[in-house]
Amino acid sequence: MNGSNVEIDWEAARHANLQNWDDRVPLHETAYGLDAYDDPKYLSDVVRHDLPVLAPFLPGRTLAGLDLCHLQCHIGTDTVSLARAGATVTGVDFSHPALAAAAQLAQRAGVAATWVEADVLDARSAVIGDFDVVYTSIGTITWLADLDRWAAQIAALLRPGGTFFIRDGHPALYALDEEAPTLTTRYPYFGDGRAQQWDDESTYVGDGKVAHPRTFEWPHPLSEILGALLGAGLRLLHFDEGRTLPWRFSPRMVEVDGDFAWPEPERNLVPCTYTIVARRE
Ligand SMILES: C[S@@+](CC[C@H](N)C(=O)[O-])C[C@H]1O[C@@H](n2cnc3c(N)ncnc32)[C@H](O)[C@@H]1O
Repeated sequence: MNGSNVEIDWEAARHANLQNWDDRVPLHETAYGLDAYDDPKYLSDVVRHDLPVLAPFLPGRTLAGLDLCHLQCHIGTDTVSLARAGATVTGVDFSHPALAAAAQLAQRAGVAATWVEADVLDARSAVIGDFDVVYTSIGTITWLADLDRWAAQIAALLRPGGTFFIRDGHPALYALDEEAPTLTTRYPYFGDGRAQQWDDESTYVGDGKVAHPRTFEWPHPLSEILGALLGAGLRLLHFDEGRTLPWRFSPRMVEVDGDFAWPEPERNLVPCTYTIVARRE
């Protein structure tokens, strides 16, 4: 059954996920609206949302002149946007076709970027140099089994005083039944080390179908996310929760200013996203 908990080792799960993400690349190159990046001022919706939240924690309140590492950069739309906001960017992803698409987008946009093909859990040893900012956003840690190892990469990539930013789907949202007619819990909020197995030929944007529909994700409660970051030596600067998110989690969600949210009577009942800004001391 979709979402059921299974025992699977990391390498096998990672292999399935990589095949699925490789398949999504050509579909997303069509569906992400890449033509918009021909406008040199254009920024992705995700980065336009995240920048004003991140900026107050940056020296001079700007990315200008900062070295930024973007973890799980996918086809580079957010990475190119972060470069346009002034950062010198390095994008990290484990998908070769995603990075090829990202490099092509950056070239077309006239943006300089470094691309590193690596597992995010090995990012420190794969990436050269250290960074003022490590950024990751929307569609990130559910793909990872081990958050302590993830947080250790982030801490080691950051310079002392460097800033970490994440915004992603809220674990309380992920516990809900996306198909139910009312807000109903279905999946565990707390993880037990097992992965959730999904079979889905579709992706979150466009109508295309993938050849490798099976994926594995891991539920991570807020306590685990914050615990991993604090345990890696980061200091929490900012925490927030949002009522909208950039993809339609459930068919019952309605569009709100280009994002998606539960219908109005339910909008205050459960968070859709969380945002964390943290600093390496
Ligand atoms: C939802 S996308 C990133 C979202 C980004 N906000 C966007 O829309 O472009 C998730 C990315 O994580 C990458 N990914 C998943 N697991 C990974 C891992 N273990 N190491 C590195 N990258 C991984 C996938 O290849 C994919 O490009």
